[in-house]
Amino acid sequence: MHILIAYHSDYQHTQAVADAVAAGANAALADAGINAQAILKQAVDASLDDLRDADVLIFGSPVHMGSMAWQMKQLVDAGSKLWMAGDLEGKVGGVFATYGGFGGAGGGVEQTLMSLHANFLEHGMLVCGFPRSLSGFADAGIHWGLAVRTGNDEGMPEGVDDAALVAARAYGSHVAETALRFQ
Ligand SMILES: Cc1cc2nc3c(=O)[nH]c(=O)nc-3n(C[C@H](O)[C@H](O)[C@H](O)COP(=O)(O)O)c2cc1C
Repeated sequence: MHILIAYHSDYQHTQAVADAVAAGANAALADAGINAQAILKQAVDASLDDLRDADVLIFGSPVHMGSMAWQMKQLVDAGSKLWMAGDLEGKVGGVFATYGGFGGAGGGVEQTLMSLHANFLEHGMLVCGFPRSLSGFADAGIHWGLAVRTGNDEGMPEGVDDAALVAARAYGSHVAETALRFQ
């Protein structure tokens, strides 16, 4: 089981969430007796071979002006080269985003998650949302995936709290467990 977590992060909030998602995925692999570790890569360092080789793709981005960061979109667009050959068909996907909370209602986090879904679905992948029963649903879950608010009431950077990290680990485990069910 080969899990790639590709993300962008300028100020380490999304990086911290990506690390927790990886920890959750690794715990699920260990529970299943699989000797493998999720691979974490900045989106700008991820290659088409990285995408092709993975059984599971988890993409994460900060929200930038209402949508994903350009570095993430660059990887998404590069991945279109794999679409004709159907190289990503049948893989399992997960999505996460961090957001300052501009306006208090997300400032584009839903669009960001759903445009990451759209990419995976276009490739013929299966996408995992964030089921209500997972730990942390009330803190950083949303039906579309993992959504971590990192800003204070004014939308200024505050950090990633422990409750969000619990949700991130639960989501990483959930995506890995879902993929294991298909193997
Ligand atoms: C250029 C830029 C644009 C942003 N636009 C939004 C936005 O539209 N909505 C929002 O809620 N937060 C926005 N933010 C806040 C970031 O999404 C948030 O701070 C995020 O957690 C940063 O992640 P990082 O530390 O991994 O870079 C923006 C931040 C930057 C730097």
